[in-house]
Amino acid sequence: MIDVSTLRDWRFSIDMQGIAWAVFDREGESQNSLGQRPLEELAMIIERVDEGARDKSIRGLVFMSGKEKGFIVGADVREFEKLADERQVADSIAQVNGYLDRLERLPIPVVCCIHGFCLGGGLELALACHWRIATRDDATRIGFPEVKLGLFPGFNGTVRSIRQAGAFSAMPLMLTGSFIRATAARGMGLIDELVPSPLNLRWAARKAIERKRKSKPAGGWRALTRMWPARGLLASKFRSETAKKVREEHYPSPFRLIDLFETHAGNLDGMKVAETRAFAPLMVGETSKNLRRVFKLSEMMKAQTPKGLAFKPLRVHVIGAGVMGADIAGWCVASGMEVSLQDVSAEQIAKGIAAQKKLFNRKFRTKPQRDAALARLIADPKGANIGRADVVIEAIVEKLEVKQNLFKSIEARLKPGAVLATNTSSIMIEEIAAPLADPSRLIGIHFFNPVAQLPLVEVIRGAQTREEEVGKGCAFVAAIDKFPLIVKSSPGFLVNRVLAPYMMAAMQRVERGEAKEKIDEAARTFGMPMGPVELADTVGLDVCAHVGKILNLGPGGPTKLDEMVAAGKLGKKSGEGFYVWKDGKPEKAEPETPYDKFELERLGRELVDPLIREAQRVRDEKIVESGDLVDAGVIFGTGFAPFRGGPLHFAANEQRSNVEVLRRTAAE
Ligand code: NAI
Repeated sequence: MIDVSTLRDWRFSIDMQGIAWAVFDREGESQNSLGQRPLEELAMIIERVDEGARDKSIRGLVFMSGKEKGFIVGADVREFEKLADERQVADSIAQVNGYLDRLERLPIPVVCCIHGFCLGGGLELALACHWRIATRDDATRIGFPEVKLGLFPGFNGTVRSIRQAGAFSAMPLMLTGSFIRATAARGMGLIDELVPSPLNLRWAARKAIERKRKSKPAGGWRALTRMWPARGLLASKFRSETAKKVREEHYPSPFRLIDLFETHAGNLDGMKVAETRAFAPLMVGETSKNLRRVFKLSEMMKAQTPKGLAFKPLRVHVIGAGVMGADIAGWCVASGMEVSLQDVSAEQIAKGIAAQKKLFNRKFRTKPQRDAALARLIADPKGANIGRADVVIEAIVEKLEVKQNLFKSIEARLKPGAVLATNTSSIMIEEIAAPLADPSRLIGIHFFNPVAQLPLVEVIRGAQTREEEVGKGCAFVAAIDKFPLIVKSSPGFLVNRVLAPYMMAAMQRVERGEAKEKIDEAARTFGMPMGPVELADTVGLDVCAHVGKILNLGPGGPTKLDEMVAAGKLGKKSGEGFYVWKDGKPEKAEPETPYDKFELERLGRELVDPLIREAQRVRDEKIVESGDLVDAGVIFGTGFAPFRGGPLHFAANEQRSNVEVLRRTAAE
C-alpha cells in the first residue's frame, strides 16, 4: 500500500466514515502553489485513494486548503525556468495531466472546497474534481491569470472550463485573466455549490459525498457555443475584442488560445492534446519569459520592506488637498486606512473629498462599505489629527520655503515613530529636511498621477535619512497595495529622470517637423502604452517644461514647449497642447498613406533609446539598488513594454542577439 504518512505539503487522513481528506498546506510557504513536490505528493494521494476506493475503505475524497488565506494561487512560477525546451514542457505537463485525468476517473465522489484565491493551476485541479463548493466570502476569487504571464491554462483547464461553463463565459475569463467572485463562478457553472463561510465547508463536503454529487457539463446553449457555426462566430468576436486591447506580435497567448478553441473545441478529448501542443512554445517563448520576469520583479519590490518590522500604519494625515493630496488620501482610505486631509483652503478639502466618491464606488460593492469609506476620510483644516497619524504626507505647492515652513511647524506635534514624508517631485529631500530638528526623519514618498492607476511609488532616501524610516516608508507603500521602490534623492529620482529625455527628444522631433501621430504610433508599436507626445499632453506641458529645466534638458533657449505653456496650451487639462483634446481624447490626423510597419519599428526603437540610456546611467550611478530594480521601476512607473522585460533587460538581449548575428555572419 502506498505510504502517505511522509507527505510534506499535504496532510492526508481518512475519517471514521471512510472519507479521505487531503489538506494542502505547502511547507514553509504562506500560500499554496503547485510546484513539483506538491504535485508528486498529489499523485501519491490519488494513488492511495484509488486503492482505498477499490477495497471500499474510502468512500469519497475532499480537497481543502490548510492556509488561512486561500486555496491555491496557481502553479509555482518559480519553477517554470527549469523547463528548458518545448519537449521538457510537454513532458512535465503530460505528467500532471495524467494525475488530473486519474483524479477525474476515480470511482468515488471527489469534492473540492474553496475559500480565498483559487487561481490558474488551482482552478484546474478543482475542475478535475467532481463537485466544487466555494464560500460566498468576499475573499474568494476565481480565475485564470495565465494570460498575464504570456500563457493560457496548460493543465487542461481550457478544456474543462469550456466543458463546465461553455465557451461564452470560459473564454473571456481566460482571455482577460480577470478574477471573479464565487457567486459569479456559480452562475457560470464553474462552481456547483456556495456556502456562507469556511466553517461550513467540511459539513457541505461530507453531505456532497453522501449524496454522490457530480457536476454536469454545460448543456443547452452553453454547450452549443463550442459547436460550429457558433464556434467560428465566437472566435472572430474574441479575436476582434482581444485585438482592441493588445497586439498579437506583442502578446501572442490570447490569440493562440482563440485558435485552439476555434480548431479543437468541437472535440474536447482532442483539445486536451492540442492544448499542450499550443502551450509549450509559449512557455519557452520570449514574451512569457519576460512577463515572468516582470512578475518576479514585482515580488522583488515587495521584498524591499524589511521583514519583522513592527510598524503597522493605520492612520494617515495628508497635507495639501490638490490634485495629488486628495487622491493619495482617497487611495489610503480605499486600502482600509483612516485618513485626515488638511489644506489652507476648506473648499479644496471639500472638493478633494467629494472627488473620491468615484474611487469608492469602484472599489466597494455595497453602500455600507462605501459609507464606511467616506466616514474614514475626514476634513482636518487645522491639522488636529497630526499627532495621531502613523504616516504624515505633505503634498502642497512645489516651493522649497513653503514646504520647509510647514515641516518646521508640524515637527513637534508628530507621534514618536510616525513616518514623515514629502510627495515632492523635484526638490531634494535634504533641502526640505535642512531646517528640521531631526532631519534624518524625512523621506520622500513620491506617488504618480493618476494615483489610482499607477502601481509604483518611489520611496526617496535623502543623504540625511535614517535607514529605518526608509523601511517604514516601504511598509506603508506595501500596506496600500502599491509597489515601493527605494530611490536615492537625486534630480528627477527614477521615473521622471528616464521619461524626461524620452519625451523631450520626441517633442524636438515634432519641432523639426516630424508628424506627431507617427511618432506616437511608433512608440506604441514598440510596446509603450501611449506615445511620448500624447504622454506629454497628458502629464501637462507646464509640468514637462518644469522637469526639463530641473534636469537641464533642451536646447537651452526658448522652445516651442515654452511658447505653448506661455500661451496657456497645457495639454489635455487645458483642451489643447500638441493635440486638440475632445472628451478626454486627442484628435489625431490619419496618415495619407498607411505607415510602413518596418519604418514604425525602426522609429519606435529610436524613440525609446534616450530612455534606455538614461536607465543605464541610473543603474551605473546606483540611484536604485540594482539593474533589476531599475527595470522594475521603469515598467511599473511608466508602463514600459512589460513583454520586453524592462529597458536594461531589453538592451542586454538586443546586444546579445546582435553579437550572435555578427558571429553567425563571420562564420558563414
Ligand atoms: P496642487 O496645486 O494641485 O495642490 C496643492 C494644494 O496644497 C492646494 O490645494 C493648496 O491649497 C494646498 N496648500 C498650499 N500650501 C499649503 C499649506 N501651507 N498648508 C496646507 N495646504 C497648502 O498641487 P499638486 O499637483 O497636487 O502637487 C502637490 C505636490 O505633489 C507637489 O510637491 C508636486 O511636486 C507633487 N507631485 C505632483 C504630481 C502631479 O502630477 N501633479 C505628481 C507627483 C508629485
